[in-house]
Amino acid sequence: MSNVRVKKLEGAGAEITGVALTDMDAEDLTAVQGAFNEHGLLFFRNQSLNERDHIALAERFGRINVNRFFASHPDHPEIALVAKEPDQTINIGGAWHTDHSYDHEPALGSILVARELPPVGGDTAFASMYAAYDALSPGLQKTLENLNAIHSAKHVFGKSKGYYEQQDKDLNGRIGNADSAEQLTDAVHPVVIRHPLSGKKALYVNPGFTLHFQGWSAEESRPLLDYLYGVAIREAHVCHFHWEPGSIAFWDNRATWHFASNDYQGHRRIMHRITIDGCALSPATER
Ligand SMILES: [Fe+2]
Repeated sequence: MSNVRVKKLEGAGAEITGVALTDMDAEDLTAVQGAFNEHGLLFFRNQSLNERDHIALAERFGRINVNRFFASHPDHPEIALVAKEPDQTINIGGAWHTDHSYDHEPALGSILVARELPPVGGDTAFASMYAAYDALSPGLQKTLENLNAIHSAKHVFGKSKGYYEQQDKDLNGRIGNADSAEQLTDAVHPVVIRHPLSGKKALYVNPGFTLHFQGWSAEESRPLLDYLYGVAIREAHVCHFHWEPGSIAFWDNRATWHFASNDYQGHRRIMHRITIDGCALSPATER
């Protein structure tokens, strides 16, 4: 029988104990997968994974998706480097967003492993998009269930925008491939999805990549999007994860947002991220 224990956290996610991720048997895997399907965000402590272990772990949950914009590990292209050096000021992911919503088939999620941590700070906040949806009135829920939204990466990873608008040298090889952002066609997703793993309804717009509602102008969309973003980051829907050596977060992009704090200036922070392929998203109105 599996020793996996699942402790639901305040706000979002669950902490998993009783398992070594390098040594999961079939029952452990079923228990971890079940917790992931339900909570969309899992934290593990005191794990010991080298790069190969990290890749093998990710492959147990799906096919690896190599991110086109992040620098990758020199020996393991499957691993994206989420790095900030002591003399750099910009951090990656330092605003609320969910990864890959600009893709037509957004990535399922990522497994992030802490490699080098600052002495203080560098926490990551996560918000539950199930909780965000549940907090809305039935009338607004119904309205949103009939809407799609347009998502793009051009304003974040494209030429002369987003990261590139800031100090060029500070990116220092961390972000690249701006041409491919320019070539992406905008993605259209339901504003409320039927989550492919849990079957629950989740809000699926985010401040990082959502441009506007389909058929609405950006100006018309702004007030409602801002309202939804305000609901999404209410403290009751958020958890703050403090990284320690051996910490791992495994999040579902379709169920959560995240925000990497940039409060450790002068220190190095190196994280290894592996992203797992997802699927096209169905509206909540479909069962
Ligand atoms: Fe991210």
